[in-house]
Amino acid sequence: MISKINEIKEQALKDISGAKNALSLDNVWKKYLGRRDGKLTKVLRNVKKLPIEERPKVGELANTVRQEIILEINKTKASLSSGGSNSSIDIDRTLPGKNIKFGHLHPLTQMRFNVAQIFSSLGFEVLESNEIETEYYNFEALNIPKGHPARDMWDTFFIESKKNQKSKLLLQTHTSPMQIHVMEKRKPPLKVCVIGKCFRNEATDASHEHTIYQLEAFSVGKEISVANLIHTLKSFLGLLFKKEVEVRLRPSYFPFTEPSFEMDFKCLNCNGSGCQVCGQTGWVEILGCGMIHPKVYEAVGYPKNTYTGFAFGVGLDRLVMMKHQIDDIRWLHSGDLRFIRQF
Ligand code: FA5
Repeated sequence: MISKINEIKEQALKDISGAKNALSLDNVWKKYLGRRDGKLTKVLRNVKKLPIEERPKVGELANTVRQEIILEINKTKASLSSGGSNSSIDIDRTLPGKNIKFGHLHPLTQMRFNVAQIFSSLGFEVLESNEIETEYYNFEALNIPKGHPARDMWDTFFIESKKNQKSKLLLQTHTSPMQIHVMEKRKPPLKVCVIGKCFRNEATDASHEHTIYQLEAFSVGKEISVANLIHTLKSFLGLLFKKEVEVRLRPSYFPFTEPSFEMDFKCLNCNGSGCQVCGQTGWVEILGCGMIHPKVYEAVGYPKNTYTGFAFGVGLDRLVMMKHQIDDIRWLHSGDLRFIRQF
């Protein structure tokens, strides 16, 4: 019986090495290990008929040979499917492989991560804003009562609200409502940076989109002044652009800051000579800022004449445009891969 098993093993290994494809290997499997008629299976089945003292030796050998055959069949199968030396598949191994294209973060996402990291390094806590707000937080608490002309600048998309809802729901037009949310919950000193998506009912053009990202930074405490505001802005822009960028600060108006300013960038798309991005003016408005208005402190319940603070709101899409000299803001949400792959 022992010599018969060894013979079966030799035959099986020979058949395996001569197999040209998976199908012939399956046939080898059936011939030797098939459940009904496999040559080795039959031997194993007959072990019980042997004299009791021979059974363990023969049984052990038959099982070992079975494992060896299985192993060899699997090895040969793997080698055939990967174009191994005895494969019948004709593969040219010198051909270059397929180029796998990896994705990467969208330039706006890169900018969001970048500014978050910068503000964190400047000691600001970084938060994410809501996207849906109530009319109260978006306007009233920021000293923009119903009928105030400033509401026209921030026309937005209202959402159907429940009948008993006190304040209507809308898509936030700016990240400034987060000033209220944070101050309602916490006492100064505060140094907070908020990043969020904003929505405006906008006739779009090369520098205006209906959906944009804003970054809001504010600091509230004692004796915080415009000097702190300007220093923070300069540090931020220096860390972001890593080179001197020409900016100008001009007086402006926001109901929730007093005094208020706007900062413009010398247009990096045309270097100040005038183009569609800057509306031929040579300057692109990048942010609004100012010292937080006493009415805001009143809305959040802070005591009168106790705290001062600054706040600013930056358009991240426009920062991306300046950074990469993009000539139309609408490219950013276009989903055009030819554009996206450049960053
Ligand atoms: C505001 O949104 C104020 N909340 C900013 C602020 C915060 C002022 C804190 C004072 C204190 P404004 O509407 O100007 O302001 O928008 C701020 C910036 O967002 C703009 O300077 C611009 O960079 C960007 N932005 C605004 N609207 C658009 C738009 N439609 N498309 C692209 N960028 C825009």
